[in-house]
Amino acid sequence: MAFEETRKENVAWFDERPSGNQVTSAARHLLETYSKIPAEQITDHHTEEYGEVLERLHQGQWFLDMACCFGQEIRQLVADGVPPENIYGCDLRPEYIELGYKLFCDRDRLQAKFLTADIFDDNSSLVKRRGDFNMVYTGSFFHLFGYEDQVRVSKAVARLLRPQEGSTIFGRQVGAVNAAEHEHRTNPARRMFRHNPESLKKMWKDIGEDLGVTFSVQATLHELDGDHFRFLAEDTRRIRFIIRRE
Ligand SMILES: C[S@@+](CC[C@H](N)C(=O)[O-])C[C@H]1O[C@@H](n2cnc3c(N)ncnc32)[C@H](O)[C@@H]1O
Repeated sequence: MAFEETRKENVAWFDERPSGNQVTSAARHLLETYSKIPAEQITDHHTEEYGEVLERLHQGQWFLDMACCFGQEIRQLVADGVPPENIYGCDLRPEYIELGYKLFCDRDRLQAKFLTADIFDDNSSLVKRRGDFNMVYTGSFFHLFGYEDQVRVSKAVARLLRPQEGSTIFGRQVGAVNAAEHEHRTNPARRMFRHNPESLKKMWKDIGEDLGVTFSVQATLHELDGDHFRFLAEDTRRIRFIIRRE
């Protein structure tokens, strides 16, 4: 299945000229210090689990940013001093990975590796990576799909994890107080399921039963900052989650 990209002028979240406070201080710092972009050319952040990711990368564990887009999280990790050799990014769109190199001005120095793959494709380059990763990060990814497809995508991501206790999926995405499936805002042919912690736990319990594995799920809802997601429903929140293989 291909991800149908919407044109920028059709999406409510696109700002051609973001104002200063839409670029968080962490993003600004990364662009200034890592990419060496002068401050005047640059028109959020660490969670507790970020510290865990840093520590585990220092121990030599393997990390994948699934649906990495421009790879900003990968640059943040590298800028924070972790060894880059075991860091991978993957996205459906090669042009986003290319734009990442352009944005961060690091094509000749970034040692993290990128793959292009559709998570639904059983013949993609990701399939060879099944069982490789101690940690997979998924930011704003699972929420792109309706419930049934989220189950398929989540299982595909779970198969990328090393089959051992402690392998972890970290993530954050759009959630809601009332878990429900919605029509995609810009593509009525698609559905998007917004989880609350209970629905996410139930989904991963079912996935675990199907895969013959137990997962523990920590999930929390967070208020949105400012007018972020102002175009979504009243009960919309951000959901952050950590899913560990037991
Ligand atoms: C909303 S962006 C999230 C980007 C980034 N992880 C973040 O948190 O800012 C969703 C990403 O998912 C990728 N994507 C969508 N469908 C995909 C699929 N079937 N397989 C792999 N990546 C996909 C898109 O290309 C896009 O880069």
